[in-house]
Parts: sequence; C-alpha cells; structure tokens
Amino acid sequence: MSSLWVERLSLTNFRNYKSGNVTAGSGPVVLLGANGSGKTNLLEAVSLLAPGQGLRRASYPDLSYHDSQAASKGVWAVSAQLHTNDTILQVGTGLQPSTSGSDRARTGRLVRIDGETQRGSGVLADLVEMMWLTPMSDGLFTGPASERRRFLDRLVLCFDASFRTRAGQYERAMRQRNRLLDQGVSSAAQFHGLETLMAEMGVAIAAARVEVVTALMCEMEIRRERDGEKAIFPWADIKLEGTLEEALVGQPAIDLEDSYLTELQRTRERDRAAGRTLIGPHRSDLVVMHGPKQMPAKFSSTGEQKALLVGMVLAHAEMSAKRRLGVPPILLLDEIAAHFDVDRRRGLFEDLVRIGGQCWMTGTDRSDFLALEDCATFIHITDGQTSTI
Ligand SMILES: Nc1ncnc2c1ncn2[C@@H]1O[C@H](COP(=O)(O)OP(=O)(O)O)[C@@H](O)[C@H]1O
Ligand SMILES: [Mg+2]
Repeated sequence: MSSLWVERLSLTNFRNYKSGNVTAGSGPVVLLGANGSGKTNLLEAVSLLAPGQGLRRASYPDLSYHDSQAASKGVWAVSAQLHTNDTILQVGTGLQPSTSGSDRARTGRLVRIDGETQRGSGVLADLVEMMWLTPMSDGLFTGPASERRRFLDRLVLCFDASFRTRAGQYERAMRQRNRLLDQGVSSAAQFHGLETLMAEMGVAIAAARVEVVTALMCEMEIRRERDGEKAIFPWADIKLEGTLEEALVGQPAIDLEDSYLTELQRTRERDRAAGRTLIGPHRSDLVVMHGPKQMPAKFSSTGEQKALLVGMVLAHAEMSAKRRLGVPPILLLDEIAAHFDVDRRRGLFEDLVRIGGQCWMTGTDRSDFLALEDCATFIHITDGQTSTI
C-alpha cells in the first residue's frame, strides 16, 4: 500500500537544534520532553516539508539557530527522507549562506527534491498533504476570520495542490487593484485584466472551498452515524459564509465569474473610498456549530471547541485518505494530550490508529501516550538533543 510519511529528519542550525537527527516509523510519533526542550520546533521543521511558512508562520531568518554567544547567521536546513506515492524522496529546505540578508527575507526558502533545486515551496503541495493543530489553534473559533480562512485553506490544499497558486494569483491581483484605486486611477482599461483574473481565481477559490466543506460534511455524517451523538469528538455543522461561496449554491461557476467581474467593476468607487476590495473570497468565513448541541462553536466551552477542532481534522484526514487511495495526510498535533482527559485521549489514539497515517504528537508525560506503546515511535528531547526511547 502506498503511504505518506517522513522516515528520517535532519535539522541543521534550526531553532534550538545545532544539529539533530530523528528516525520515525510510519505510524504515530510521540515527542516527549520538558517545556522549552524543542518539541514544537521539531514539529515546525516537519511542517516545512509542506508548502508555506510552517506552523508558526515565522519569518525564515528567525528559524536559524542562535545562542547567547552567537547571533543567528540566518542560515538553516531541514532535510527529510520522505515516503510518498510508492517512492522515497530526499527533500531538503532551508536558507543558504550565499543569499544576502535582505534577499533572504524576500526570496523565501530554498527547496530541493532529490538534489534538484525547485522554484519555491509550492511544488511540495504535489507531494505532501499535511494538517496541524497547535495550542494557537485553540482560539480558532473566537479569533479573527482570517485565521479560520487559513485553516480552511489548508484543508483545501490537501485536496487541490494548485489551490495555493490560485490563491496567490488572486491576492496579487487584488493588491494591484487596491493600489490603482489608491493612486486615483480611473481608466477602466487598467483595471480590466486584474479584475478578470480576480473573478476567475476568486470563483475557483470559492468553488474549491465549497467542494471540500461539502465533502467534509459528508464525512461528518458518516462519523455521526458511526459514533452517535455522544461521540468523544462531536460532529460539527460547517458552513461557508462568503458572497461567492454562497452564490455558488444557486449558479454555475462560469456565470458567477461574469457577475463577480461586473460587481468588481461596479464597486470600484466604493472600494476606493473604503481603501480595499470589499467583496471576494478574502472576506469569507468558516462558521462552525457544535452539532449535537446546535450551538455556535464560538460559544462552546474551551474543551468542546478543542474536541470539535480535532473532530474536524480527523474527519478531514479520513476523507482525504478515501480520496487518495487510502493515504491520509501527515498530522502534527502539538500538545494534544495536555487538555484531554483519559477518555478523549483514548478516543483520539483509536481514531489515529484506525485512520493509519503518520501523526506527530508532543507531550511532557509518556504515560499520557500509554495506549500507543506498541505502535508509536517515542523520541525524547532535551535542550535540542534527540534520542529514541
Ligand atoms: N532561532 C532559535 N535559536 C535558538 N533557540 C531558539 C530559537 N527559536 C526558539 N528557540 C528556543 O527553543 C526552545 C524550545 O522551543 P519549543 O520547541 O517551542 O519548546 P517545547 O518543547 O516546549 O515545544 C525555546 O527555549 C526557545 O527559546
Ligand atoms: Mg511546544
């Protein structure tokens, strides 16, 4: 059976790792260590095997090792032996010494696959599907819509490797449109190309989101039937709030492209006054309800919100696996055991084992992961030094 997992991971000058090596199995991987030992840093290194800025969204030069004696030189590397699509690839990423400081901040990180340098990290979307939850995700339902969009778009990226490119094209076109508005430009000809691109990409973004949320709701329904209303990870009622996403329910994408383009043309002066584009997928929101309680997630208790979020990620992993010949995404669950009681932990581990992919988890206490003793790789971390236990 094909699968997706990281077997060996090497870190050089990465965060608090001067150098480090980890060998993992294809199932659960548990990183244990005291606070500040480097567990989240290691997850962050794994997250850089997916496109984008990683799970902390840190700037790349910040990832470079520094200590009290030596300032960071801004150089770091993460390399991995990655099993994907029945092959084993050597994936490397990092910042090189040759890039000057100002360039490094601008140009992004270097990515090499089997020794061949790639253009940006986007190519990793074709190879690696990955989802993560960190303690920062705990505020997802109460925080700003932008965080929920980011979360949603990562779910989408696991299905549609080209999603990130389209989202990038849309963002760039929108920024240029905003700039023209700001500069007082009013010639329609100057807006036409940008708005046409925004309409095309904007509708494609909305359509991809709708597709994933629909599929996720189907998977939720399956879980609900299987686990009942008292499930440890309750089912969620998920809706997309957004002009384009909502319009797609009633009209074909091609018609919506036309009407969105017309709308962009019509609202130029209003957007100019507002100083930004007011309609588009960059304003959408993911609205989640606690299913069994029919209560908006933002009003649910902290524990309920966490359980809902985990339930969504598990459902997503399950649905991704069904779509990809049984291959689930790699999951990174930071401090996942900390807020769960024994039953929730057991439920989580059972689900993870059933879904079957590689899942990296962190914790301080090995006894929290007792149920995984037979199947997980346990790695102990002390001050940026790893050892398998
Ligand atoms: N660029 C860096 N260079 C050296 N140390 C770093 C860097 N960035 C973060 N650290 C240190 O890494 C340590 C471990 O962080 P983290 O992985 O978040 O710990 P935890 O094991 O609690 O998840 C922290 O003490 C932090 O100060
Ligand atoms: Mg941590």
